[in-house]
Amino acid sequence: MNIAIIGTGNVGGALATQWAKKGHNIHLGVKNKDQFKGSELLKNANTSVFSIKEAIELSDVILIATPPTAIFDIVEELGDVSGKVIIDSTNSVMKSPEPYKTVFHMLAEKTNAEVVKCFNSTGFENMKDPVYHGEGIDMFMAGDSEKAKDVARQLALDCGFGSCWDFGKADKVELLEKFALSWINLAIMQGHGRGIAFKVIRR
Ligand SMILES: NC(=O)c1ccc[n+]([C@@H]2O[C@H](COP(=O)([O-])OP(=O)(O)OC[C@H]3O[C@@H](n4cnc5c(N)ncnc54)[C@H](OP(=O)(O)O)[C@@H]3O)[C@@H](O)[C@H]2O)c1
Repeated sequence: MNIAIIGTGNVGGALATQWAKKGHNIHLGVKNKDQFKGSELLKNANTSVFSIKEAIELSDVILIATPPTAIFDIVEELGDVSGKVIIDSTNSVMKSPEPYKTVFHMLAEKTNAEVVKCFNSTGFENMKDPVYHGEGIDMFMAGDSEKAKDVARQLALDCGFGSCWDFGKADKVELLEKFALSWINLAIMQGHGRGIAFKVIRR
């Protein structure tokens, strides 16, 4: 797949690296190429840096991995994204892009892209290495677009996640952000550390 990574920090960097290893073409979209802080990522295969607009033009899939309020700048650069898949990995648990509850809600209202919430519910270290005791931990997604969910599921499996569970339609996006907050609560607030993960088990 041709994938634009908007936000090349912890989450964007981890996913860009995993997907490059799987042979996807990675277009890092940055505010200012001269002040790009993620030059280590350019050592990955199939990876180049572009302006945000260029990266999106070159890609069928767009990952948003920025602070939630950056979406106001990013939507100005999106152009025509009809038929493209946008994966929203942001969490508005501290600050939401008001008047929208989440970045997903803003993208669903303001664009005609296929939008899915995914890669928000665990720490970036678990995206870099989702394998615990020889088994892939689980990823979770929500949204109305089946096309976007198919893409997110494949990209989760490409990272090494065991399964990508469908939380439901757009009305479950806030629940999925609360689920992320549950991981943050256990890992950080309750002090269990970032080396913990969720996996669904079945009898
Ligand atoms: N950290 C985690 O473990 C984790 C896990 C799941 C979900 N999330 C969510 O994922 C998102 C990113 O988290 P992170 O930890 O990866 O953050 P981060 O390391 O601080 O990276 C944020 C990235 O966004 C870029 N950015 C900021 N404002 C921008 C704008 N206006 N236009 C374009 N790019 C912009 C930054 O570029 P500059 O550095 O050049 O400003 C940086 O590359 C957040 O919404 C967070 O809630 C985080």
